[in-house]
Amino acid sequence: MAAAQMLQKPLAEFLQLVGERQQTQLQASLKTEVADAETLFSAMRYAALGPGKRLRPALVYACAGTLGGANFDPVACDAPAAALECIHAYSLVHDDLPAMDDDDLRRGRPTCHVEFDQATAILAGDALQTRAFELLLHCDAAPALKLQMLAELAQASGARGMVAGQAIDLAAVNRSLDPVALEQMHHLKTGALIRASARIGALLGGADESQLQAVTGYAEALGLAFQVRDDILDVTTDTATLGKTQGADAARNKPTYVSLLGLDAARDKLQQLQRDALAALDDLGGDATLLRQLADYVVQRRH
Ligand code: IPE
Ligand code: IPE
Ligand code: MG
Ligand code: MG
Ligand code: MG
Repeated sequence: MAAAQMLQKPLAEFLQLVGERQQTQLQASLKTEVADAETLFSAMRYAALGPGKRLRPALVYACAGTLGGANFDPVACDAPAAALECIHAYSLVHDDLPAMDDDDLRRGRPTCHVEFDQATAILAGDALQTRAFELLLHCDAAPALKLQMLAELAQASGARGMVAGQAIDLAAVNRSLDPVALEQMHHLKTGALIRASARIGALLGGADESQLQAVTGYAEALGLAFQVRDDILDVTTDTATLGKTQGADAARNKPTYVSLLGLDAARDKLQQLQRDALAALDDLGGDATLLRQLADYVVQRRH
């Protein structure tokens, strides 16, 4: 299929194509390389290849395509997008551990530490994290672009990004956060990786500085919206649809938009964020239909 056609599909078909490309890429990237550590590799594959939505990869392809236009090359996105998904999968494995959210259901299946054991889950998360950086290191991009992408991913994943957000989340259990601190926590624990996905896609698409700023504004609103929607779904959607245990946040007294502001205020916030995301795209120029559709998907998703 011509590259441009991938972008002109209805969103559901675009997401399916992203899923297929990523399944192939992740399978190839997570083959057993050390026979005596077969269980570790099995756990890595279990975590990364499970039926997730692949939103972060989708943003990489969608931003690269939106900015790249006729020069869009999905093949160039495969490894960077898989790098984002490996970090995301690792974050979920660790998020579910008994020492963190203590969840036993993920993507409709037992969590990694339930299917394997805690030590294996910790190590699989560790190894998925480093594999993400190897994927970027060995991808086909020019050296300068590679360095930019590595810097984006490192910043978003670590103590200035997702891990910081997780630390704030866990420290806030059984406590109240003010709205500013709550927003900061969501920006970090979930927004940072979504922002990095969009920026890495934009860099792959050859974005100039003003386009990168517009994509960043879009992704910051989208990332926050994604976690607000996650908080809402935790109280409004059943376990079977979610693929993770309904009410898990309330059961563990987690700080969420719903627990701190209530369902109505959380829904208002979500709508405002959708408007913010779409407004940021006005500065992008060109045809941003796919990014608009992704924003709608994020706020309307059922799981
Ligand atoms: C779940 O992420 C964790 C959050 C950051 C809210 P997703 O909802 O993207 O999970 P998968 O990848 O589709 O399973
Ligand atoms: C997830 O937040 C954030 C990360 C995994 C980094 P949640 O704890 O709300 O995610 P779920 O609801 O378990 O998927
Ligand atoms: Mg959590
Ligand atoms: Mg959790
Ligand atoms: Mg949640």
